[in-house]
Amino acid sequence: VTNSKVQAITAPLCLSDEQLRKCMTLFLAEMKKGLGKETNAAADVKMLPTYVRAIPSGQEEGKFLALDLGGTNFRVLLIDLKGRSVKMSSKIFNVPQEIMVGTGAALFDHIAECMYRFMYAEGILDQVLPLGFTFSFPCRQLGLASAKLIRWTKGFSASNVEGEDVAKLLKEAVKRRGDFDVDIVAVVNDTTGTLMSCGHSTPTAFIGLILGTGCNACYMERIENVELWDGDTNEPKEVIINMECGAFGDNGVLDFIRTEFDQHIDNESINKGNQKYEKMTSGMYLGELVRLVLLKLTEAGLLFGGKLPAVLKKKDVFYTKYLSEIEADADETVTRSHKILRDELGISYATKEDAELVRYVCSLVSSRAAILAAIAMVTIMNHMKRPMTTVGIDGSVYKYHPKVHTIMTETINRFIDPNLKFKLMLSEDGSGKGAALIAAVAAYQKAGKP
Ligand code: BG6
Ligand code: GLC
Repeated sequence: VTNSKVQAITAPLCLSDEQLRKCMTLFLAEMKKGLGKETNAAADVKMLPTYVRAIPSGQEEGKFLALDLGGTNFRVLLIDLKGRSVKMSSKIFNVPQEIMVGTGAALFDHIAECMYRFMYAEGILDQVLPLGFTFSFPCRQLGLASAKLIRWTKGFSASNVEGEDVAKLLKEAVKRRGDFDVDIVAVVNDTTGTLMSCGHSTPTAFIGLILGTGCNACYMERIENVELWDGDTNEPKEVIINMECGAFGDNGVLDFIRTEFDQHIDNESINKGNQKYEKMTSGMYLGELVRLVLLKLTEAGLLFGGKLPAVLKKKDVFYTKYLSEIEADADETVTRSHKILRDELGISYATKEDAELVRYVCSLVSSRAAILAAIAMVTIMNHMKRPMTTVGIDGSVYKYHPKVHTIMTETINRFIDPNLKFKLMLSEDGSGKGAALIAAVAAYQKAGKP
């Protein structure tokens, strides 16, 4: 696998500690730029205040609706809170591709229709429940219940939504139907939902990370550091910041590690020039990155006997889930890799050596993603200086890849301030529960309860 010709092609995917330290310095500089009043407008990493401050007290009770849009699955949820006990029912609905890239009105009509179907099935159409809307895109919050979409990411491009308040668009769509009503009390990013979900059981949860279709993080920042904060300064003097760090590198600072494969992905994407860090770390792109490396290796005569399989010429045919499956093969076997190449992709002439090389490429691409995600985590931890931080994590790449957790842990250990401790924790319940908790706290505050 490691002959020098292969090395020459794949070496740019391997990052040295020196390069990683430079990434950390750059990441911290971008964080500070985003937090600064004078510098925020020009910042790529937007560091958006979320207006989510209080961790649920555990006293919240009642029924809440939640919507979860922007990951692999669009879900509607009904959550019944009784203190620490949480009962959830949910349904997954499809968001057809043409709706993702159609008109905003059609998108929100579709969401309202799915809500209607869910509420009908649950027998709650006559109730006006508080709703937490997990909307996993960069939004400038105008308050907890109002959020303007800055720009679409992850393959969405529905028209007339950018610059608009998504809570208002949802309210209008519900009103257009006129057959049910909801009380939208919070719009939440998935990172924030994930952090709150973890925070419910773990008091040291200060960072939320999504490593799924997209990649982004949020963390608890001291209000004195958030120059753009315009909310109250009561205790706790902290607020969750949705970093939108997927946009790290958009100004070119990461060009020293971006490869020809990364450039190709960006050129072919519908959001060219945006989300450059996300395009190196998240599920929407990892499979495609592998495909591009495989193409280059084949063209160089190092893979598939130099004979390019027609299937590999097609964009996105190499799914990111293949990386998780292929890397689950024990070291000495390549059974799964071989099977995926032959049975799923139909490359009948793939040999065992081809399968080994494919697995090697997968491991390079996924390791780099895990390492770069870890670099962001460790930079935040070194900045926060909390003695112990639990990172609540969700997303298909983290959840299903057999090695990402370990690689992230090793990388953080290499760079963390030795006085600090951390734990990476899978957030089991998704951000739906977090959105409901935030809705609960907000509904309580609205009702004047403590
Ligand atoms: C889910 C959360 O569990 O994970 C979503 O509920 C989130 O809010 C998603 O967007 C991220 O993972 P993926 O892989 O579905 O994008
Ligand atoms: C994209 C979105 C961000 C979201 C992330 C993970 O980066 O811009 O808001 O948190 O994907 O879903």
